[in-house]
Amino acid sequence: MSSPARQRALAVGLAGALALVAALGGASAAAEGPTLAAAAARTGRQIGVAVAHDPLVREIAYGRLIAREFSSITPENELKWSPMAPAPEVVDDSRWETVLAAAAAAGQQVRGHTLLWDQQLPSWAVALPDAALLAAQRAHTERLLAATSGRIAVWDVVNEALEDDGSLSRTAMWRAGGERHLTDTFRTARQMAPEAKLFYNDYGVEGINPKSDGMFAVLRRWRAAGVPVDGVGLQCHLKAGEAPPVAQLRANIQRLGGLGLDVHLTEIDVQVRHLDGSDWGRDAVQARLLHQWVEACVAEPACTALTFWGLSDRHTWVDHAHGDDRPLLFDDELEPKLSYFAVRAALLGKPDPTCAVERLPEGGFDKGMGGWRASGGQGAVVEGPSGGPALRVSGRTATWQGPVRTVTDSVADGLPLRARAQVTVGPGGPAKVALTAHVIDGAGERFVPLAAGQAQPGRWTALEGALSIDLKAPVRSVELYVEGPPAGQELWLDGASLRVDCPAAAGAKVRP
Ligand code: G3I
Repeated sequence: MSSPARQRALAVGLAGALALVAALGGASAAAEGPTLAAAAARTGRQIGVAVAHDPLVREIAYGRLIAREFSSITPENELKWSPMAPAPEVVDDSRWETVLAAAAAAGQQVRGHTLLWDQQLPSWAVALPDAALLAAQRAHTERLLAATSGRIAVWDVVNEALEDDGSLSRTAMWRAGGERHLTDTFRTARQMAPEAKLFYNDYGVEGINPKSDGMFAVLRRWRAAGVPVDGVGLQCHLKAGEAPPVAQLRANIQRLGGLGLDVHLTEIDVQVRHLDGSDWGRDAVQARLLHQWVEACVAEPACTALTFWGLSDRHTWVDHAHGDDRPLLFDDELEPKLSYFAVRAALLGKPDPTCAVERLPEGGFDKGMGGWRASGGQGAVVEGPSGGPALRVSGRTATWQGPVRTVTDSVADGLPLRARAQVTVGPGGPAKVALTAHVIDGAGERFVPLAAGQAQPGRWTALEGALSIDLKAPVRSVELYVEGPPAGQELWLDGASLRVDCPAAAGAKVRP
């Protein structure tokens, strides 16, 4: 049995941690720690972000935050063919020139994206006969390489040429050109931009699967044939709950590194809108995933850079392509999210701070009920059995009546939480006590037992259990109940806490 005083001290400590993490909501708090760029630099890595022209010229805060936090940028669309070539013989370099000028002013490296892709082609070019399309594409590549000469550190030379089955048949798009057109583009890039690292970039190739197996085989063949490919970009457009296991990511990085290739994580974002639950819960799921993935990159020498595909939840392609989401490190107001701090911690070799956030800071009852109430009878904060304030529920008329607190704003599907409470009973003999979750969602109403024990009057008993519920939309409410003793007997509560349940030694070993 631990004393309530100790529990209160713990709660105060947790409240301090919470205050810190709550403050994490402010850009100023982010400024208190190292920037992402500084944290990544300690590992010898670049950290980048996809930058879009329009917000860059319209929103001062957007450009400032990018300049402060990132050491590398990727123009999100501006170096693609169609945005710069609206009609034959018409070329507009102004948009990417603006993005590159901002990067130069901030001392950032540029990832050039992309020379060869079967998307975002000018419609006039697509309408050309085979040979003319290839010739126009070659001319575009050469002109762009010359125009950007010396300013691009890394080129995504070829983007998304593989089918899901790992074959290169998607390049049927390149009609008569085929695979040869891809390798020729690498050779042209090496010739015209000898200072740039040349990458193949694709999605769905982060883990081990037919597509990544096919990519590995193609890259091995190209390396053996002397095609100048220096690295591979794993895009990492992830969906929480569906991302490949992090062990597969590491195995994949290792085999690609074994070919002598650098590996960059090039377009990271994590969709969470499909998870039932609260925004906080969804953000916590995302932060946990990103901590593990960034930790994996830092642990693998071949993984030398990582880029997020957009600055904030207000600047993301996901909203347009799939629906309103929150996939990035900063929120709509450009405030850093849990994911920002998780990524920074992973870069610094530290545990995920998401695991330290206390969701029931009021559990110490120093400042009143802290969001708890009585599900029946009367609840009051009074001096507890061994001193200090505690919550007493008296006048109970049923065994299920006792302290209850709504925690709907902390849950999400797939987010493991751990609930704790110190419980005791009033005069009347030992009694059964239990901690229960009461869930009302799209699957109906249910009571989920979390922990149970035997309480002696006047002595605290610890109840602790995992709160991991398969939630179904709509999530109406999730409540934590303390219950159990016979009607009439008082039920007391102190030191309640709710946190993300993080395995102690999860994930990769991080190199200094
Ligand atoms: O610029 C026009 C604007 O004038 C117009 O008003 C507006 C109306 O929808 O469209 C604007 O263009 C859009 C452009 O993004 C800029 O916002 C295009 O329609 C839209 O198709 C384009 O989407 C981009 C997409 O690539 C193109 O396929 C996304 O922003 C960009 O994030 C996305 O990035 C790709 C990577 O290049 C490759 N890997 C996958 C990744 C996500 O799809």
